[in-house]
Order: sequence, then structure tokens, then C-alpha cells
Amino acid sequence: MRRHPIIQMVAIGAIASAIGIALALWINWFPADAAKQDHPIDTLYDVLLIVSIPIFVLVLTVILYSVWTFRMRPGQENEDGPPIHGNTRLEVFWTAIPAILLVSLCSYAYAVLNDIEKKHDHELVVKVHAIQFAWTFEYPQAGGRSVVSPQLYLPKDKPVRFDIDSADVIHDFWVPAFRVKIDAVPGITTRLRVTPTKLGAFPVVCAELCGLGHAVMRSTAHVMTPAAFGRWLAQKQAPAAGGGGAGGGARQLTQQQLVALGRATFTGDGGCGACHTLAEAGTTGTTGPDLGRVLRGQSENAIRTDIVDPNARITPGYSANIMPPTFGQTLSAQQLDGLVAYLATVSK
Ligand code: CUA
Repeated sequence: MRRHPIIQMVAIGAIASAIGIALALWINWFPADAAKQDHPIDTLYDVLLIVSIPIFVLVLTVILYSVWTFRMRPGQENEDGPPIHGNTRLEVFWTAIPAILLVSLCSYAYAVLNDIEKKHDHELVVKVHAIQFAWTFEYPQAGGRSVVSPQLYLPKDKPVRFDIDSADVIHDFWVPAFRVKIDAVPGITTRLRVTPTKLGAFPVVCAELCGLGHAVMRSTAHVMTPAAFGRWLAQKQAPAAGGGGAGGGARQLTQQQLVALGRATFTGDGGCGACHTLAEAGTTGTTGPDLGRVLRGQSENAIRTDIVDPNARITPGYSANIMPPTFGQTLSAQQLDGLVAYLATVSK
């Protein structure tokens, strides 16, 4: 067994590496790929795995072999090992190889980054505003006036540039299906480029621990056909353009329709139910208070203030600044009226 330890180790290492690489490539590490940026990033990840696994196996094989072969035997307790004065050739070798490897992998990673961050003509600019604990998406080019939305809507196959900022602490804008992510830092604007290539809805998450509501700082990215996106943008612009007070110029709804709209807004994707328990809506969030309990007997005006100015009064046992103060801007006037009507109805 001691006669050809090097050959044995190389054989064990080669087999272990092959198994490791096969396993690593077989595992599906990533969510759906929904952007042009995904493929180069996934390939980079696979290359890094393929290179790292043999190194991991090499180091581990040498350690395990040495621990076993050169272990102390009875009677050797007071013996010292042979004195070693170094081995220049070995040292040059184990410095040069990792250096070459690191420089090559870094160059490759840099080339990929350069490629996926390439600027495009006619980019769609979306401003991403982070605040504890919500995302707001602003479309500044929409006919001169901004459209603001709590969810992200994007046209398929159109290069997008996100301009990201934060109103309070450091957050991190991440759509896993687009792979790339970047910090939202107070005081500066960070940038990210993505070209969505797949229709569907993909989670938007905050990837930087930013406080008590970090886990619920989520939204959804909807990738739509350019025509559907155009319709969405036009529809979002229309009620605001009508101006005016409650109702915002949109079609007048009956009380029953308002309550239905309010319930849909409450229970919908990223709606109030993500953080609040409300028996009637069947939601069980615990980040904020149970609304069936705290809103009992409240007037419509009080409920409206609770939604648009959540820090005005805080339920005992809960902290200020957990609920985003942005709902007055991100909800349409009709959605807000609907929510108030719905919550007033269920908390009577
Ligand atoms: Cu914002 Cu975590």
C-alpha cells in the first residue's frame, strides 16, 4: 500500500473529482432563467464549480492520506519528525499554479460582467426606490410624467436599466430569475441592466438584512409582451391624468364593487395580507397587528390614516417604521378607497 501512494492518490482524486463534477452539474442550482444575463452567469458558475472541485478534492485527499499514513503510533509519543528546510521547487509550483488559475478566472469573470452590463440604446429606465420595507418602481419616461407602482412590470426583450436608491438603510435589489443583484444605498444611485426574455411573474426580494421587516420586503416582477406593457402603462397614467379627489377620475364604483376591489388589494400579491392577519381575508401575516382586532369599530377616516400614515399611531407591542409609508403613492385612489371600504366593513 505504501509503495505507490502518489499514483493511488491521483486515482482516488480523479474518480472523486469526476463524481463531484458530475453531481455539481447535475444539480439544478438556479431558478427559471428569465433574462439575457442568465446564461453567461450560469456558465460562469459551472466553470467555477468544475475548476474548484478538483482543488477541493486534491486538498482533502492529501490531508486525509497524511492524517492516516503519518499518524502517531504507540511508542512514538516523544519522537520528533524529520527536520524540513523547505523545497523551493515545490513552493514555486504551488504559488504559480494558483496565481495563474486566479488571474484566469478573474479575467473570465470580468469579461462576463462587462458583457452583461453593456449599455444599450433605447433602454427602458426604471427607478427602483427602496424603503423599510417596500419596493416602489417608477417609470419616468412615460409621456413626461411618472408612473409609480408597488410591483415591477417589464416588457419582454427590451433592455432595462434600473436606477436604484434607498430612503433609509442599505437594501439589495434582487430578482433571482434575472440573476444579477445590487445594493440600494442611501445617498447614491446604483445601476443594474437586465433584458427580460421570458414572460411570467418572478419574485423580487431584498437581499440585505435591513431590519425587522426584511423578510417581507418582497414584490413581483411581471414580464409581459410589449403590447400588454404599453396597455398597463397607459392605464396607470389615465386615472392620474384625470386628476381630482377620491376616485381619481376613474369610473365610479358601487359600494359593493369598492369592497371587492379592497379585498382583492388586501389579499393580492404583495398585499396587506403578507404582513397582517385578517380572519375574513384568510390571511395570517404576523409582521403587523391583527387587523380584525385593532381596527374593530374604527371610522373610515381613521383606517385611511392608518394606511397612508402608518406611523401616526402605533399598536402597543409593535414598532414604528415597520409599515412602509408609501401606500398613499403606490396604491391608486380607487384601491385606497376600496381598502378603506373593505376594512370598515369587516371590522364593524
Ligand atoms: Cu430591505 Cu432587506
